[in-house]
Amino acid sequence: MGNYRIAVLPGDGIGKEVTSGAVEVLKAVGTRFGHEFTFQYGLIGGAAIDEAGTPLPDETLRLCEQSDAVLLGAVGGPKWDQNPPHLRPEKGLLAIRQQLKLYANLRPVVCHDSLAVSSPLKPDVIRGVDFIIVRELTGGIYFGQPSGRVVENGEEKAIDTLLYKKEEIERIVRMAFMLARGRKKKVTSVDKANVLSSSRLWREVAEEVAKQFPDVELEHMLVDNAAMQLIRAPKQFDVVVTENMFGDILSDEASMLSGSLGMLPSASLSASGPSLYEPVHGSAPDIAGMRKANPIAAILSAAMMLRLSFGLTAEAEVIEHAVQQALTAGLRTADLAQGSGRIVSTDEMVEEIKNAVLDYTEIAQIMTVYA
Ligand code: IPM
Ligand code: MG
Repeated sequence: MGNYRIAVLPGDGIGKEVTSGAVEVLKAVGTRFGHEFTFQYGLIGGAAIDEAGTPLPDETLRLCEQSDAVLLGAVGGPKWDQNPPHLRPEKGLLAIRQQLKLYANLRPVVCHDSLAVSSPLKPDVIRGVDFIIVRELTGGIYFGQPSGRVVENGEEKAIDTLLYKKEEIERIVRMAFMLARGRKKKVTSVDKANVLSSSRLWREVAEEVAKQFPDVELEHMLVDNAAMQLIRAPKQFDVVVTENMFGDILSDEASMLSGSLGMLPSASLSASGPSLYEPVHGSAPDIAGMRKANPIAAILSAAMMLRLSFGLTAEAEVIEHAVQQALTAGLRTADLAQGSGRIVSTDEMVEEIKNAVLDYTEIAQIMTVYA
Protein backbone atom coordinates (compact mmCIF):
# COMPACT_ATOMS: atom_id res chain seq x y z
CA MET A 1 0.00 0.00 0.00
CA GLY A 2 1.10 3.52 -0.64
CA ASN A 3 3.30 5.88 1.27
CA TYR A 4 2.59 9.56 0.73
CA ARG A 5 4.18 12.71 2.10
CA ILE A 6 1.76 15.59 2.46
CA ALA A 7 2.81 19.14 3.31
CA VAL A 8 0.10 20.83 5.36
CA LEU A 9 -0.04 24.63 5.36
CA PRO A 10 -2.97 25.66 7.58
CA GLY A 11 -2.38 29.42 7.16
CA ASP A 12 -4.75 31.81 8.89
CA GLY A 13 -8.24 32.05 10.37
CA ILE A 14 -10.45 29.03 9.73
CA GLY A 15 -7.63 27.57 7.58
CA LYS A 16 -6.36 25.87 10.73
CA GLU A 17 -9.69 24.30 11.69
CA VAL A 18 -10.59 23.05 8.23
CA THR A 19 -7.17 21.58 7.40
CA SER A 20 -7.10 19.73 10.70
CA GLY A 21 -10.49 18.26 9.73
CA ALA A 22 -9.17 17.20 6.33
CA VAL A 23 -6.10 15.62 7.94
CA GLU A 24 -8.33 13.58 10.26
CA VAL A 25 -10.33 12.31 7.33
CA LEU A 26 -7.13 11.42 5.43
CA LYS A 27 -5.91 9.53 8.48
CA ALA A 28 -9.17 7.59 8.50
CA VAL A 29 -8.60 6.73 4.81
CA GLY A 30 -5.08 5.58 5.74
CA THR A 31 -6.42 3.33 8.49
CA ARG A 32 -9.23 1.92 6.40
CA PHE A 33 -7.17 1.26 3.24
CA GLY A 34 -3.72 0.64 4.67
CA HIS A 35 -1.97 3.70 3.26
CA GLU A 36 0.62 5.66 5.14
CA PHE A 37 0.20 9.41 5.01
CA THR A 38 2.95 11.51 6.57
CA PHE A 39 1.92 15.05 7.46
CA GLN A 40 4.52 17.78 7.78
CA TYR A 41 3.46 21.28 8.72
CA GLY A 42 4.66 24.59 7.28
CA LEU A 43 3.92 28.28 7.70
CA ILE A 44 2.27 30.51 5.12
CA GLY A 45 0.39 33.81 5.06
CA GLY A 46 -0.14 35.94 8.15
CA ALA A 47 1.02 33.14 10.46
CA ALA A 48 4.32 33.09 8.55
CA ILE A 49 4.64 36.87 8.64
CA ASP A 50 4.23 36.78 12.43
CA GLU A 51 6.65 33.92 13.04
CA ALA A 52 9.18 34.20 10.22
CA GLY A 53 8.82 37.76 8.91
CA THR A 54 7.76 36.72 5.41
CA PRO A 55 4.50 35.32 3.94
CA LEU A 56 6.27 32.38 2.27
CA PRO A 57 9.42 31.27 4.13
CA ASP A 58 12.04 29.31 2.12
CA GLU A 59 11.60 26.47 4.56
CA THR A 60 7.93 26.14 3.61
CA LEU A 61 8.75 26.15 -0.08
CA ARG A 62 11.39 23.43 0.41
CA LEU A 63 8.98 21.35 2.46
CA CYS A 64 6.42 21.57 -0.36
CA GLU A 65 8.97 20.70 -3.03
CA GLN A 66 9.96 17.59 -1.09
CA SER A 67 6.37 16.45 -0.61
CA ASP A 68 4.06 14.46 -2.86
CA ALA A 69 1.26 17.01 -2.50
CA VAL A 70 0.34 20.12 -0.54
CA LEU A 71 -2.81 20.74 1.51
CA LEU A 72 -3.48 24.40 2.19
CA GLY A 73 -6.06 26.11 4.39
CA ALA A 74 -6.49 29.83 3.75
CA VAL A 75 -4.54 33.04 4.18
CA GLY A 76 -5.35 36.59 5.24
CA GLY A 77 -7.02 38.59 7.98
CA PRO A 78 -7.58 42.14 9.21
CA LYS A 79 -4.44 41.97 11.34
CA TRP A 80 -2.25 42.28 8.23
CA ASP A 81 -4.51 44.44 6.06
CA GLN A 82 -2.41 47.57 6.54
CA ASN A 83 0.88 45.83 5.73
CA PRO A 84 2.93 46.89 2.69
CA PRO A 85 2.29 44.71 -0.44
CA HIS A 86 5.27 42.37 0.07
CA LEU A 87 4.18 41.65 3.65
CA ARG A 88 0.58 40.74 2.93
CA PRO A 89 -0.59 37.17 3.59
CA GLU A 90 -2.01 36.90 0.04
CA LYS A 91 1.51 37.43 -1.28
CA GLY A 92 2.44 34.06 0.22
CA LEU A 93 -0.31 32.34 -1.72
CA LEU A 94 0.60 34.05 -4.98
CA ALA A 95 4.28 33.22 -4.43
CA ILE A 96 3.64 29.54 -3.77
CA ARG A 97 1.45 29.32 -6.90
CA GLN A 98 4.25 30.87 -8.92
CA GLN A 99 7.11 28.92 -7.33
CA LEU A 100 5.40 25.52 -7.60
CA LYS A 101 4.14 26.40 -11.13
CA LEU A 102 0.53 25.72 -10.18
CA TYR A 103 -0.91 26.91 -13.46
CA ALA A 104 -4.16 24.92 -13.56
CA ASN A 105 -6.72 25.60 -10.87
CA LEU A 106 -9.66 23.19 -11.02
CA ARG A 107 -12.78 24.21 -9.13
CA PRO A 108 -15.62 21.69 -9.47
CA VAL A 109 -19.07 23.12 -8.78
CA VAL A 110 -21.58 20.46 -7.84
CA CYS A 111 -24.99 21.01 -6.30
CA HIS A 112 -25.59 18.34 -3.67
CA ASP A 113 -29.28 17.50 -3.81
CA SER A 114 -29.79 17.87 -0.08
CA LEU A 115 -28.27 21.37 -0.17
CA ALA A 116 -30.36 22.81 -2.99
CA VAL A 117 -32.47 24.58 -0.36
CA SER A 118 -29.38 26.08 1.35
CA SER A 119 -28.55 28.22 -1.65
CA PRO A 120 -30.14 31.67 -2.06
CA LEU A 121 -31.02 30.53 -5.60
CA LYS A 122 -34.13 28.60 -6.56
CA PRO A 123 -33.70 24.85 -6.01
CA ASP A 124 -34.94 23.93 -9.49
CA VAL A 125 -32.38 26.25 -11.11
CA ILE A 126 -29.45 24.63 -9.32
CA ARG A 127 -30.49 21.02 -8.73
CA GLY A 128 -28.31 18.90 -11.03
CA VAL A 129 -25.60 21.54 -11.51
CA ASP A 130 -22.28 19.82 -12.23
CA PHE A 131 -19.50 21.73 -13.95
CA ILE A 132 -15.89 22.58 -13.41
CA ILE A 133 -14.13 25.92 -13.60
CA VAL A 134 -10.60 25.70 -14.97
CA ARG A 135 -8.89 28.88 -13.85
CA GLU A 136 -5.47 29.92 -15.16
CA LEU A 137 -3.50 30.53 -11.96
CA THR A 138 0.02 31.78 -12.66
CA GLY A 139 -0.47 34.50 -15.26
CA GLY A 140 -2.61 37.46 -16.16
CA ILE A 141 -3.17 40.57 -14.08
CA TYR A 142 -2.11 38.83 -10.83
CA PHE A 143 1.48 38.61 -12.02
CA GLY A 144 1.95 40.99 -14.99
CA GLN A 145 4.63 43.69 -14.80
CA PRO A 146 4.70 46.61 -14.36
CA SER A 147 2.54 46.62 -11.27
CA GLY A 148 2.56 49.13 -8.46
CA ARG A 149 2.07 52.72 -7.41
CA VAL A 150 3.73 55.68 -9.07
CA VAL A 151 3.63 59.44 -8.76
CA GLU A 152 4.10 61.20 -12.10
CA ASN A 153 4.10 64.99 -12.35
CA GLY A 154 2.63 65.15 -8.88
CA GLU A 155 -0.21 62.84 -9.88
CA GLU A 156 -0.76 59.60 -8.00
CA LYS A 157 -1.33 56.51 -10.13
CA ALA A 158 -1.46 52.74 -9.80
CA ILE A 159 -0.90 50.18 -12.50
CA ASP A 160 -1.55 46.46 -13.03
CA THR A 161 -0.72 44.61 -16.22
CA LEU A 162 -2.81 41.88 -17.82
CA LEU A 163 -0.36 39.87 -19.88
CA TYR A 164 -0.62 36.38 -21.37
CA LYS A 165 1.87 34.44 -23.43
CA LYS A 166 0.46 32.17 -26.09
CA GLU A 167 1.79 29.02 -24.46
CA GLU A 168 0.26 29.93 -21.11
CA ILE A 169 -3.14 30.07 -22.77
CA GLU A 170 -2.51 26.92 -24.78
CA ARG A 171 -1.71 24.67 -21.83
CA ILE A 172 -4.69 25.74 -19.72
CA VAL A 173 -7.14 25.49 -22.61
CA ARG A 174 -5.76 22.06 -23.46
CA MET A 175 -6.33 21.00 -19.85
CA ALA A 176 -9.96 22.13 -20.18
CA PHE A 177 -10.46 20.11 -23.35
CA MET A 178 -8.92 17.01 -21.82
CA LEU A 179 -11.26 17.29 -18.84
CA ALA A 180 -14.25 17.85 -21.12
CA ARG A 181 -13.43 14.62 -22.95
CA GLY A 182 -14.13 12.67 -19.77
CA ARG A 183 -17.33 14.66 -19.09
CA LYS A 184 -20.10 16.16 -21.22
CA LYS A 185 -17.70 17.24 -23.99
CA LYS A 186 -18.36 20.95 -23.87
CA VAL A 187 -15.88 23.75 -23.19
CA THR A 188 -17.00 27.31 -22.50
CA SER A 189 -14.07 29.68 -22.88
CA VAL A 190 -14.75 32.91 -21.01
CA ASP A 191 -13.07 36.15 -22.07
CA LYS A 192 -13.61 39.85 -22.74
CA ALA A 193 -12.57 39.75 -26.39
CA ASN A 194 -14.78 42.72 -27.27
CA VAL A 195 -12.44 44.94 -25.24
CA LEU A 196 -9.16 43.29 -24.22
CA SER A 197 -6.21 42.33 -26.47
CA SER A 198 -5.23 39.53 -24.12
CA SER A 199 -8.74 38.11 -24.52
CA ARG A 200 -8.53 38.27 -28.31
CA LEU A 201 -5.34 36.21 -28.20
CA TRP A 202 -7.05 33.89 -25.71
CA ARG A 203 -9.94 33.32 -28.13
CA GLU A 204 -7.62 32.65 -31.08
CA VAL A 205 -5.61 30.13 -29.12
CA ALA A 206 -8.77 28.42 -27.84
CA GLU A 207 -9.90 28.00 -31.47
CA GLU A 208 -6.54 26.50 -32.39
CA VAL A 209 -6.52 24.04 -29.50
CA ALA A 210 -10.11 23.05 -30.30
CA LYS A 211 -8.94 21.65 -33.65
CA GLN A 212 -7.11 18.90 -31.77
CA PHE A 213 -10.37 17.95 -30.00
CA PRO A 214 -12.99 17.56 -32.73
CA ASP A 215 -15.15 15.49 -30.36
CA VAL A 216 -15.51 18.41 -27.93
CA GLU A 217 -17.71 21.44 -28.53
CA LEU A 218 -16.16 24.88 -27.93
CA GLU A 219 -18.18 28.00 -27.21
CA HIS A 220 -16.93 31.47 -26.34
CA MET A 221 -18.69 33.60 -23.79
CA LEU A 222 -17.96 37.15 -22.69
CA VAL A 223 -17.29 37.35 -18.99
CA ASP A 224 -20.13 39.71 -18.16
CA ASN A 225 -22.57 37.41 -19.91
CA ALA A 226 -21.01 34.40 -18.17
CA ALA A 227 -21.63 36.05 -14.78
CA MET A 228 -25.29 36.36 -15.73
CA GLN A 229 -25.64 32.90 -17.30
CA LEU A 230 -24.23 31.27 -14.14
CA ILE A 231 -27.26 32.54 -12.26
CA ARG A 232 -29.81 32.29 -15.07
CA ALA A 233 -29.12 28.76 -16.31
CA PRO A 234 -26.10 27.14 -14.64
CA LYS A 235 -26.85 23.67 -15.96
CA GLN A 236 -25.69 24.71 -19.43
CA PHE A 237 -22.04 24.51 -18.31
CA ASP A 238 -19.66 21.53 -18.37
CA VAL A 239 -16.08 22.87 -18.41
CA VAL A 240 -15.51 26.61 -18.07
CA VAL A 241 -11.98 27.80 -18.84
CA THR A 242 -10.83 31.32 -18.13
CA GLU A 243 -8.00 33.62 -17.15
CA ASN A 244 -6.85 34.21 -13.60
CA MET A 245 -8.97 37.13 -12.40
CA PHE A 246 -12.16 36.20 -14.25
CA GLY A 247 -11.81 32.72 -12.72
CA ASP A 248 -11.36 34.18 -9.26
CA ILE A 249 -14.56 36.20 -9.52
CA LEU A 250 -16.72 33.62 -11.30
CA SER A 251 -15.76 30.84 -8.91
CA ASP A 252 -16.96 32.74 -5.84
CA GLU A 253 -20.18 33.44 -7.69
CA ALA A 254 -20.49 29.80 -8.73
CA SER A 255 -19.98 28.57 -5.17
CA MET A 256 -23.52 29.72 -4.37
CA LEU A 257 -24.78 27.10 -6.81
CA SER A 258 -23.42 24.40 -4.54
CA GLY A 259 -25.19 25.78 -1.47
CA SER A 260 -22.33 27.64 0.16
CA LEU A 261 -18.80 28.87 -0.39
CA GLY A 262 -17.93 26.39 2.34
CA MET A 263 -18.57 23.52 -0.08
CA LEU A 264 -16.14 24.28 -2.90
CA PRO A 265 -12.83 22.39 -3.13
CA SER A 266 -9.99 23.09 -5.53
CA ALA A 267 -6.89 21.54 -7.01
CA SER A 268 -3.99 23.61 -8.32
CA LEU A 269 -2.02 21.38 -10.64
CA SER A 270 1.66 21.92 -11.22
CA ALA A 271 3.44 21.97 -14.54
CA SER A 272 6.23 19.91 -12.94
CA GLY A 273 6.33 19.16 -9.18
CA PRO A 274 3.75 18.53 -6.47
CA SER A 275 0.23 19.93 -6.79
CA LEU A 276 -1.65 21.89 -4.16
CA TYR A 277 -5.18 21.41 -2.81
CA GLU A 278 -7.16 24.06 -1.01
CA PRO A 279 -10.74 25.06 -0.25
CA VAL A 280 -11.92 27.98 -2.40
CA HIS A 281 -13.17 29.89 0.64
CA GLY A 282 -10.91 32.28 2.47
CA SER A 283 -9.78 32.58 6.08
CA ALA A 284 -13.16 33.96 7.35
CA PRO A 285 -11.62 35.86 10.29
CA ASP A 286 -15.08 36.70 11.67
CA ILE A 287 -15.74 33.06 12.61
CA ALA A 288 -12.14 31.86 13.13
CA GLY A 289 -11.65 29.72 16.23
CA MET A 290 -15.39 29.42 16.86
CA ARG A 291 -15.60 25.86 15.49
CA LYS A 292 -18.37 26.99 13.17
CA ALA A 293 -16.49 26.69 9.88
CA ASN A 294 -17.61 24.21 7.26
CA PRO A 295 -14.78 21.68 6.82
CA ILE A 296 -16.32 20.09 3.71
CA ALA A 297 -14.47 22.20 1.10
CA ALA A 298 -11.14 21.22 2.71
CA ILE A 299 -12.19 17.57 3.02
CA LEU A 300 -13.28 17.45 -0.63
CA SER A 301 -9.96 19.08 -1.56
CA ALA A 302 -8.23 16.18 0.19
CA ALA A 303 -10.35 13.82 -1.93
CA MET A 304 -9.15 15.64 -5.05
CA MET A 305 -5.58 15.13 -3.83
CA LEU A 306 -6.12 11.38 -3.51
CA ARG A 307 -7.59 11.18 -6.99
CA LEU A 308 -5.35 13.57 -8.93
CA SER A 309 -1.96 13.35 -7.19
CA PHE A 310 -2.00 9.76 -5.90
CA GLY A 311 -4.37 8.05 -8.34
CA LEU A 312 -6.41 6.71 -5.39
CA THR A 313 -9.78 6.95 -7.11
CA ALA A 314 -11.72 4.54 -4.91
CA GLU A 315 -10.46 6.25 -1.75
CA ALA A 316 -11.44 9.67 -3.12
CA GLU A 317 -14.92 8.36 -3.84
CA VAL A 318 -15.23 7.00 -0.33
CA ILE A 319 -14.58 10.50 1.05
CA GLU A 320 -17.09 12.01 -1.37
CA HIS A 321 -19.72 9.48 -0.37
CA ALA A 322 -18.99 10.07 3.30
CA VAL A 323 -19.64 13.79 2.77
CA GLN A 324 -22.84 12.95 0.94
CA GLN A 325 -23.91 10.70 3.78
CA ALA A 326 -23.32 13.36 6.43
CA LEU A 327 -25.36 15.86 4.43
CA THR A 328 -28.15 13.38 3.76
CA ALA A 329 -28.20 12.58 7.48
CA GLY A 330 -29.06 16.26 7.99
CA LEU A 331 -25.80 17.60 9.44
CA ARG A 332 -25.34 21.28 8.63
CA THR A 333 -22.65 23.73 9.58
CA ALA A 334 -23.90 27.29 10.15
CA ASP A 335 -23.25 28.37 6.54
CA LEU A 336 -25.67 25.65 5.34
CA ALA A 337 -28.30 26.39 7.93
CA GLN A 338 -31.15 27.47 5.62
CA GLY A 339 -33.84 24.84 5.33
CA SER A 340 -33.91 21.62 7.27
CA GLY A 341 -31.13 19.86 9.13
CA ARG A 342 -29.27 19.98 12.41
CA ILE A 343 -26.64 22.64 13.05
CA VAL A 344 -23.33 21.10 14.06
CA SER A 345 -19.84 22.32 14.83
CA THR A 346 -16.80 21.81 12.61
CA ASP A 347 -15.73 18.93 14.85
CA GLU A 348 -19.07 17.15 14.71
CA MET A 349 -19.12 17.35 10.93
CA VAL A 350 -15.55 16.03 10.72
CA GLU A 351 -16.35 13.22 13.15
CA GLU A 352 -19.38 12.11 11.12
CA ILE A 353 -17.44 12.09 7.84
CA LYS A 354 -14.46 10.35 9.44
CA ASN A 355 -16.67 7.63 10.90
CA ALA A 356 -18.41 7.13 7.58
CA VAL A 357 -14.97 6.57 6.01
CA LEU A 358 -13.94 4.13 8.77
CA ASP A 359 -17.26 2.28 8.51
CA TYR A 360 -17.07 2.06 4.77
CA THR A 361 -17.82 -1.28 3.22
CA GLU A 362 -18.34 -1.99 -0.43
CA ILE A 363 -21.94 -2.92 0.25
CA ALA A 364 -22.56 0.40 2.01
CA GLN A 365 -21.06 2.22 -0.93
CA ILE A 366 -23.16 0.32 -3.43
CA MET A 367 -26.21 1.22 -1.36
CA THR A 368 -25.39 4.95 -1.44
CA VAL A 369 -24.68 4.95 -5.16
CA TYR A 370 -27.83 3.09 -6.16
CA ALA A 371 -30.22 4.18 -3.39
C1 IPM B 1 -8.71 32.56 -4.33
C2 IPM B 1 -8.45 33.75 -3.44
C3 IPM B 1 -7.07 34.32 -3.74
C4 IPM B 1 -7.06 34.77 -5.19
C5 IPM B 1 -6.62 35.45 -2.80
C6 IPM B 1 -6.69 35.05 -1.35
C7 IPM B 1 -5.25 35.96 -3.17
O1 IPM B 1 -9.45 34.70 -3.58
O2 IPM B 1 -7.93 31.60 -4.31
O3 IPM B 1 -9.70 32.57 -5.07
O4 IPM B 1 -7.45 35.90 -5.49
O5 IPM B 1 -6.64 34.00 -6.04
MG1 MG C 1 -11.05 34.05 -4.81
